[in-house]
Amino acid sequence: MNGTHNDLSRQANPFLPEPARIVRTYPLTEDVNFFQVRVADMDKALAFRYQTGQFAMISILGAGEAPFSISSTPSRPGLLEFCIRKAGTVTNALFNLKENDLVGLRGPYGNGFPMDKMEGKDILIVMGGLGAAPLRSVLLYCLDNRDRFGRVILLHGAKRPGDMLFREELLALKQRDDLECHITVDGDDTGEWKENVGVVTTLFPKLGNIDPANTFGLVCGPPIMYKFVLQEFLNLDIPRDQILMTLERRMKCGVGKCGHCAIDYIYTCLEGPVFSYWDVIHMRELI
Ligand SMILES: Cc1cc2nc3c(=O)[nH]c(=O)nc-3n(C[C@H](O)[C@H](O)[C@H](O)COP(=O)(O)OP(=O)(O)OC[C@H]3O[C@@H](n4cnc5c(N)ncnc54)[C@H](O)[C@@H]3O)c2cc1C
Ligand code: FES
Repeated sequence: MNGTHNDLSRQANPFLPEPARIVRTYPLTEDVNFFQVRVADMDKALAFRYQTGQFAMISILGAGEAPFSISSTPSRPGLLEFCIRKAGTVTNALFNLKENDLVGLRGPYGNGFPMDKMEGKDILIVMGGLGAAPLRSVLLYCLDNRDRFGRVILLHGAKRPGDMLFREELLALKQRDDLECHITVDGDDTGEWKENVGVVTTLFPKLGNIDPANTFGLVCGPPIMYKFVLQEFLNLDIPRDQILMTLERRMKCGVGKCGHCAIDYIYTCLEGPVFSYWDVIHMRELI
């Protein structure tokens, strides 16, 4: 589904960005910053509805526009959160902005996760690196609606402790007894890391018994991660239509007009960025 009737993606000109103010920004790691943004028009800010896994286009005058996953949860409307890596023209310009500065925002776009279908099920979230951006939205949504889900399990991997996005937030969430949270780093260069060391798949033995028919497995991370995590999901016998992932393709318009994101007959800005295992089996170019 591509947004709701109240969102900014349904206005007369779908390419017209809405002014939005940076409310908070601070570094999460060496090259990734957190941005909390609010649409400047208060009525439109409150009307901006989205689903977990959707993305927005952020633009900066003179620099351009790029897609970013919405990292906040739809259960807390008003403020939008993003977690953005300094990569090129737009993100460099974004990193030079301060709190109270304006950006352009349009969206939300993409299909998002089928949270209704996932209700009542156990949710196993596996994220690595920037994969935390879209999956944090799912995690916070599940925690805000805790009675609607079974077990909520998070496996999060980073290269080093300093690279772990939302590390403090996760260490705090680890204290909750209604969340099973396991974090790991590939290597510890601090000597102070008290959690697991090893790639994210080394966390799977900590899961205990999984009820596969009742479980949704979600994954997002660097391309190398998918092959190994998907295999772990299959080893657990999670049904293939309950294995979901978010994937990035180069996007320009976000609304199915330019063809930049097309793979065969699929416009990934409309039919993604969330795909099931079956989608990926039929279109291997997706990963
Ligand atoms: C659905 C979706 C969600 C996303 N979510 C996030 C997110 O939450 N956080 C985040 O940090 N990023 C996210 N991204 C990625 C982000 O949109 C890109 O990194 C974007 O290109 C950054 O824009 P930029 O102008 O700063 O970088 P660019 O100037 O576009 O450069 C980005 C990188 O791509 C290379 N590059 C530039 N043009 C080309 C080209 N034509 N062909 C090949 N390589 C090229 C550059 O050398 C550089 O390494 C997402 C992308 C998608 C599609
Ligand atoms: S990004 Fe333009 S068609 Fe998908």
